[in-house]
Amino acid sequence: MTDHDTQGRLTSRSIRSFVIRNGRLTKAQAVAMQNLLPLYGIDYNEDQLLDFSSLFETKSHGKTVNPVWLEIGFGNGDALLDMASRYPDTNFIGIEVHEPGVGQALMGIESNALTNVKIIQHDAMEVLQHMVPAASLNRVLLFFPDPWRKKRHFKRRIVQTEFIELVANKLEPGGVLHCATDWQDYAEWMLEKLQASEQLDNNSATGTYCERPEWRTNTRFEQRGERLGHSVFDLLYSKPRPT
Ligand SMILES: C[S@@+](CC[C@H](N)C(=O)[O-])C[C@H]1O[C@@H](n2cnc3c(N)ncnc32)[C@H](O)[C@@H]1O
Repeated sequence: MTDHDTQGRLTSRSIRSFVIRNGRLTKAQAVAMQNLLPLYGIDYNEDQLLDFSSLFETKSHGKTVNPVWLEIGFGNGDALLDMASRYPDTNFIGIEVHEPGVGQALMGIESNALTNVKIIQHDAMEVLQHMVPAASLNRVLLFFPDPWRKKRHFKRRIVQTEFIELVANKLEPGGVLHCATDWQDYAEWMLEKLQASEQLDNNSATGTYCERPEWRTNTRFEQRGERLGHSVFDLLYSKPRPT
């Protein structure tokens, strides 16, 4: 698929929720990219569905028995590493496009000797579309996604109907999509789009936001938001189990 159609118009593929910033890698991050990415990274391959039972160590009768949580846009990996340390019986896939963040997370995986984390450096939308099997994820975590504050950039927000449908398809029954943001306008946008979903149910008794669950780490983006006096909004939606 290309970024332009035959008339030269932009296609939805070209609207990305990120801009690749040319952040410089520290020397340690560069070394991690070279030495650790082959160990803990998964190459993007649009023709290859992930097989969690061969990716992760914990197996029973050849199948992964541990749940898989997938974090989109993990930044420097603070939450990812913290969750992976606190929940050793859960497997984690972290997706991020920003190379210094990927390098930093790789260093953390190595120094904490984590065996339950894999990293994919690629657009999460494409990873979900092409590499994640249907009904395979126990949680999809989206913490403090870029808010794209200007109206003309709203189309870049990752939370769109297409994203919600895609995530709903990849969650196992009972699985949860958890989004958090400190940007009220984006929280309201997420709420509107998620409430409209016929595939996911809001976990909030009030039909709005939830209390912060204990698995969500307080990341640096959240701390920055708190310093600016922002509230934080957690949205948790479950895929119903068949009755
Ligand atoms: C505002 S930062 C938040 C980082 C982290 N979740 C935190 O709370 O500290 C958003 C991150 O999402 C990443 N990102 C945005 N869209 C993405 C996509 N489609 N696939 C992978 N990463 C993405 C960006 O590169 C950026 O690092």
